[in-house]
Amino acid sequence: MNEIFTGSFTQQEPIPDEAIEAALAVMRHGRLHRYNVAPGELGETALLEQEFAARMGAKYCLAVASGGYAMATALRAVGVQPGDPVLTNAFTLAPVPGSIASVGARPVFVGVTAGLTIDLDDLQAKLDQARVLMLSHMRGHLCDMDRLMRMCDAAGVTVIEDCAHTMGAAWRGQLSGRQGAVGCYSCQTYKHVNSGEGGLLITDDEELAAKATMLSGSYMLYERHLAAPGPEVFERIKYTTPNVSGRMDNLRAAILRPQLRDLDHQVQRWNERYERIEQGLCDTPGLTIVERPEAETYVGSSIQFLLLDWSTDTIAEVIERCAARGVELKWFGGAEPTGFTSRYDSWRYADSTRMPNSDRVLAGIMDMRVPLTFSLEDCELIARIIRDEVTRIHNQATS
Ligand SMILES: Cc1ncc(COP(=O)(O)O)c(C=O)c1O
Repeated sequence: MNEIFTGSFTQQEPIPDEAIEAALAVMRHGRLHRYNVAPGELGETALLEQEFAARMGAKYCLAVASGGYAMATALRAVGVQPGDPVLTNAFTLAPVPGSIASVGARPVFVGVTAGLTIDLDDLQAKLDQARVLMLSHMRGHLCDMDRLMRMCDAAGVTVIEDCAHTMGAAWRGQLSGRQGAVGCYSCQTYKHVNSGEGGLLITDDEELAAKATMLSGSYMLYERHLAAPGPEVFERIKYTTPNVSGRMDNLRAAILRPQLRDLDHQVQRWNERYERIEQGLCDTPGLTIVERPEAETYVGSSIQFLLLDWSTDTIAEVIERCAARGVELKWFGGAEPTGFTSRYDSWRYADSTRMPNSDRVLAGIMDMRVPLTFSLEDCELIARIIRDEVTRIHNQATS
């Protein structure tokens, strides 16, 4: 009898009781808009920003409506104009090139390595094509950030980090989002903290922080922020920075603050699950484990492995057979975008040239969510199912 997994890959944990209480308090007083505060009151959104800035060791933090909004705001704040080229990852999800397109700019795609990080040699070759890099730490894989920053600094390229999958991760001990000029995070349900929708942006640059705050829709109420630069900085930019409304509200912020306090513990729980799955997949014939560099502290909220050089049909068979046993795998090699998954050549509003080495990697990337509702035994079972099906189909194909 084949084992079957019956859990849900899209079921997150409930919102913690403390967060529910905080949300109820906001609903009871009714002041949900971030600037709607009683005299002397510090609103939940302003407190969230203050706490996230402190946690990240950043001077400034702004909470906004989504991760994608944070990225578009960062692009506007660094001065990207319509028509400008912006370097970005070929292996990422649609909101990343979407944020570039949203400001009328043009994504220039950079390839992916078998480690699932941006190809730094390809980046080196393309650095002279743009003055901004939107660096996506896709699925939590961090590239050699020391080398990347050296290269970008030398070329005068500003780095904006998309940390949608790396909240809580670090490179050589430095938290993800602290290397570039701006770090952007998502608080959407499938991320490391969950307010349904929501985003956070951090920076040490006072002018970028002031511009981002004005852009998010602060009107002239920016003095109610607790992690923003002083009014003199806003004086310099307030007449020339548009309001592109995208604030966070106090209800979401109330839900997020207790979750942030618990993030380190959650990271540990994700990694226990990730390691169980990784161990279970080790030495599966035809399956390549994605090695994690020693300098990287990751958050195993999803796991990827490669079926490199497998034919489309055999990969489709693995996906189908795993699905029949309750294991949902996503594939970056499919010709058509499906669900949350798409590829650089699916984004036809942006020109791209084929990258054969990256295409080979993308064609073999299998991707799976690891929600915290999975027990460690669930993770072992899931790994056994994948191992079983991959081995069976690999042996058939090679016999
Ligand atoms: C890699 C990546 N970047 C950015 C985003 C955008 O985040 P949000 O959904 O909060 O706009 C996502 C969302 O899934 C993502 O996966």
